[in-house]
Amino acid sequence: MKIKGQGQFPPDFLFGASTSAYQYEGAYDLDGRGPSVMDLLQRKGGLADYKVGADHYHRYEEDIRLMAEIGLKAYRFSISWTRILPEGNGRVNPEGLQFYDKIINLLRQYNIEPIVTLYHFDYPQGLIDQYGGWRSRKSVDDFLEYATILFRHFGDRIKYWLTINEQDHVIHLPERIGLPGTIDAAEFDRISQQCSYHMCVATARIIERCHELVPGGQVGVAMNPMIGLPASSKPEDVLAAAEYNEIAGYYLLDLQCKGIFSPIYTKYLKDRGAFPEIDAEDLNKMRLHPPDFIGVNYYMNQTVRQSTSDTIAPRGTGVIKREEEGIYELVNNPHVQASEWGWGICPIGLKLVIMELYNRYGLPALITENGLGARDELLPDDRIEDDYRIAYLAGHLKELRDCVQMGYPVLGYCLWSFMDVVSGHDGMNKRYGLVYLNRKDQELLDLRRIRKDSFHWYGHVIATNGADL
Ligand code: BG6
Repeated sequence: MKIKGQGQFPPDFLFGASTSAYQYEGAYDLDGRGPSVMDLLQRKGGLADYKVGADHYHRYEEDIRLMAEIGLKAYRFSISWTRILPEGNGRVNPEGLQFYDKIINLLRQYNIEPIVTLYHFDYPQGLIDQYGGWRSRKSVDDFLEYATILFRHFGDRIKYWLTINEQDHVIHLPERIGLPGTIDAAEFDRISQQCSYHMCVATARIIERCHELVPGGQVGVAMNPMIGLPASSKPEDVLAAAEYNEIAGYYLLDLQCKGIFSPIYTKYLKDRGAFPEIDAEDLNKMRLHPPDFIGVNYYMNQTVRQSTSDTIAPRGTGVIKREEEGIYELVNNPHVQASEWGWGICPIGLKLVIMELYNRYGLPALITENGLGARDELLPDDRIEDDYRIAYLAGHLKELRDCVQMGYPVLGYCLWSFMDVVSGHDGMNKRYGLVYLNRKDQELLDLRRIRKDSFHWYGHVIATNGADL
């Protein structure tokens, strides 16, 4: 009899790690790169200096050698849209293409499968200036044009593509879609839902285009599902958790995988006057061109109880809404530990997500991010004893291994992040990497790369194909 919790991953399982361009590359204005919304946010007083990031732009050879040393089978990174098209559309910058040629060719030399995200938060400022970015239908054509350039140029070397990183988050952060942070909540609901709809239309067209241009190409969407557990067995709490999971999570995949607005989401949007302008032909395209796999960025879960309020309020801004008045409220869970930043650590949640996604959409998953943000301490002998990170990653990998052994299709696991990068909200205070980056928020120090204990641990996990977690 097989004992639960043992065994290995399949031999072709893609053990990997992730980064994103704006957090990692630096060289923000070098070799013709144009400005993105993330550069502007930084200029307005971001916590840490993004201009240099981890200086991967100049140190990519050393970095990829480190990836090979761990034994990574895959590396997920994003292409900076404005390195390729400095204004977001129109003129192509050959130096941008050359930079990613070097990265991809070197990865291939080391037999590391490159997994490319087309757009990870760094939307071109040029498109916001030209026509308001995602709020205009023109954004669909421009995203498609950019993707087409990448498919034509890199399609002979890239099989796995991801369209938008965390559309479910981006649309709730006004500055990331070119709007003022002070925008009125109801107006924001209307605009952000229209932006989200345009992103879905573009995604379907990009998937169609990839399949035309890239032989064997596979396209995924990367979501951040924070699965909601009911706070109690009270039927009202169970219902609130189910509604939370629809409204805060699955509504987007329903559109992208099936071309439908679910009934509950339709009502939710209409109640708030935020149902977008749509076209039946677009929905048909989404239905005909669903993604090939679902990218899962999984960090934390939520716990949900019924809202006691009997009024409805706009959704407004912010990635997480603590209370959706009249529907649900998020609460602490005494059975789930949280990170220093209050992120509920729940490996079983990853298993629930994998099961639910497969049951709903019948598509394979690729874990595109999973990791623990912590304040790592550099010890005098250049060691970083991050046993807390190893425990977090091992816990999630065990649940994932169980899923794979049950027969759920999972292509791979790309943890966040390969190296410490500039954290979106917390600069260099919150580190996720297997490799320590010797810099602070504003002091760049020597940017030395130092292997953490988790670096060696992950190398062993890969070498033993997950048998020894
Ligand atoms: C994911 C993003 O949501 O979370 C990454 O895709 C980000 O870009 C990661 O860095 C961790 O978030 P944070 O804010 O802790 O850096």
